[in-house]
Amino acid sequence: MSATTIALNAPDYVKHPKLLAWVQDMVDLTQPRDVVWCDGSQAEYDRLCTQMVDAGTMRRLNAAKRPNSFLACSDPSDVARVEDRTYICSAKEEDAGPTNNWMDPTAMRATLKPLFTGSMRGRTLYVVPFSMGPLGSPIAHIGVELSDSAYVAVNMRLMTRMGKAVLDVLGTDGEFVPCMHTVGAPLEAGQTDVAWPCNPDTKYIVHYPETREIWSYGSGYGGNALLGKKCFALRIASTMGRTQGWLAEHMLILGVTNPEGRKYHVAAAFPSACGKTNFAMLIPPKGFEGWKVTTIGDDIAWIKPDANGRLRAINPEAGYFGVAPGTNMKTNPNCMESLNRDVIFTNVALTDDGDVWWEGMGEAPAHAIDWQGKDWTPAIAKETGAKAAHPNARFTVGATNNPALDEAWDDPAGVAIDAFIFGGRRSDTVPLITEARNWTEGVYMAATMGSETTAAAFGAQGVVRRDPFAMLPFAGYNMSDYFQHWLNMGEQLGQTGAVLPKIFTTNWFRKGEDGQFVWPGFGENMRALKWMIDRIEGKTGGAEHLAGVTPHYQDLDWTGLDFSEHAFDAVTSINPTAWRAELDLHTELFDKLAHNLPQALLDTRSLWAARLGA
Ligand code: GTP
Ligand code: SPV
Ligand code: MN
Repeated sequence: MSATTIALNAPDYVKHPKLLAWVQDMVDLTQPRDVVWCDGSQAEYDRLCTQMVDAGTMRRLNAAKRPNSFLACSDPSDVARVEDRTYICSAKEEDAGPTNNWMDPTAMRATLKPLFTGSMRGRTLYVVPFSMGPLGSPIAHIGVELSDSAYVAVNMRLMTRMGKAVLDVLGTDGEFVPCMHTVGAPLEAGQTDVAWPCNPDTKYIVHYPETREIWSYGSGYGGNALLGKKCFALRIASTMGRTQGWLAEHMLILGVTNPEGRKYHVAAAFPSACGKTNFAMLIPPKGFEGWKVTTIGDDIAWIKPDANGRLRAINPEAGYFGVAPGTNMKTNPNCMESLNRDVIFTNVALTDDGDVWWEGMGEAPAHAIDWQGKDWTPAIAKETGAKAAHPNARFTVGATNNPALDEAWDDPAGVAIDAFIFGGRRSDTVPLITEARNWTEGVYMAATMGSETTAAAFGAQGVVRRDPFAMLPFAGYNMSDYFQHWLNMGEQLGQTGAVLPKIFTTNWFRKGEDGQFVWPGFGENMRALKWMIDRIEGKTGGAEHLAGVTPHYQDLDWTGLDFSEHAFDAVTSINPTAWRAELDLHTELFDKLAHNLPQALLDTRSLWAARLGA
């Protein structure tokens, strides 16, 4: 067979026998045309982008408008994460738990083997070494992704520390997580390629937590294919954190400095497409001139206790893979500025002058080519409802493009966390801000969080589902054990005498009778953030209710905003009937998670029910 004739092409600097042996095995399995070891250089990035432009996968944007930027449009069937095709293959089913798809690892390996056999025929296999976290940091971990997608290789360069420097750190025997990826579209001899190869019929996103391996088949998109992100930094890392005493979370990390010059760090978990990137880049509104918000991360946090019992967080990523629609100069000016150059856009619209456009960016162009390559005009949109950009259209950009980047974003020691926020997308019931009275109540709030589903995952949208800790699609092990891990962390930290971070919940998304959001959101979220910081400093009041502590109208700073007490009531009121229904949904979740569910959570539910006079 041709398998043995494929040259490994490893550069001299690769000195890791286990890595070389693994790559050889995978080359034999997938039978690519050739092998390219990514060094992470700008020249390599430029070469791969040019190659994809020639192949029709990407289009170079107008260099006068958006220098060094590209647009890729995916196959219409490959636009989001595929949660129903995502598996946690632990040895025991109960270790994956009822919220994950599970298959026996041996059975899964038997399923994947024929799919990966010859799956890269006619394509290049890229070897992509990457570090999640600052190179050489004691908190960082290394992965190596093998992929037959050049789009993956260039995105990984923006999203992680990628290339030769990683192999230098890995040395001859360093540990790495092997990440196998194929688009699952082999090219038999002579066959011409398509612009966005993927497998429309078969997709598998597979994790083996015990052996720390990732195998991804059939998709070229985002979280399905950039395996350092959700697969490694959340699903595999959460299992590592469980055994090693740390946390891998779906959280942004921001720094907030008050007018007195005191700086705090906040980590916030909102479900996919629910405002992490926006909050991480927040610009304080008029009236908050003395306040400053800086970005450490926008999607993932790795959090470890230090010797003094304080939780320190790093952002394992080096770039942003963010939602484009809805982003504009009013909602997120820092993000818009980040996107001025050096960006890979995916599934947005192309304007006639070679630039990009998406819904909610600003004035619509008279004509554009939509993300599926069709003519788009405002009139067509009005008539057919056609979207110029896919609702889950994304941008990939390096963190260093962000004007609000925190000076410690790359600090191997991370930043000390003062508060956690958990925030769902709820049209009703859940107040704008709530403070938990203690760690256990905070864990309860996070565990029972509900949120309306978004375009970030394939499937129905706008349906309320429980999304514990915003980790429903990302926890790599049993959700009840994950709750217990959070409770244990609180208890351990408490014993050191360290001040535990306060826990808050938020909901920017309550709607009025007219169906519109009542809360202005975006920069105005600073008012909620200020209340939290003031609470940490013991400077402001709040009203206690069944589900925690929520500010009175007068506890928020309204400088520069006309927001009536009536409107405030519409976003903070507690409706007992709605909360009875809400508690029933908590019970439904707890019934599902009964195996190993911490008693402390059931006790908290009873306390809330008693307060409700149920
Ligand atoms: P992932 O990258 O999918 O994990 O999501 P994310 O949490 O980073 O989402 P992002 O910040 O990109 O938010 C996406 C959507 O939320 C966009 O449609 C925004 O317009 C909307 N959004 C963000 N912040 C607010 C807010 O304060 N109020 C309202 N109403 N919408 C918001
Ligand atoms: C999410 O869905 O939470 C994302 C985007 O951050 S993706 O990387 O595609 O999963
Ligand atoms: Mn995310």
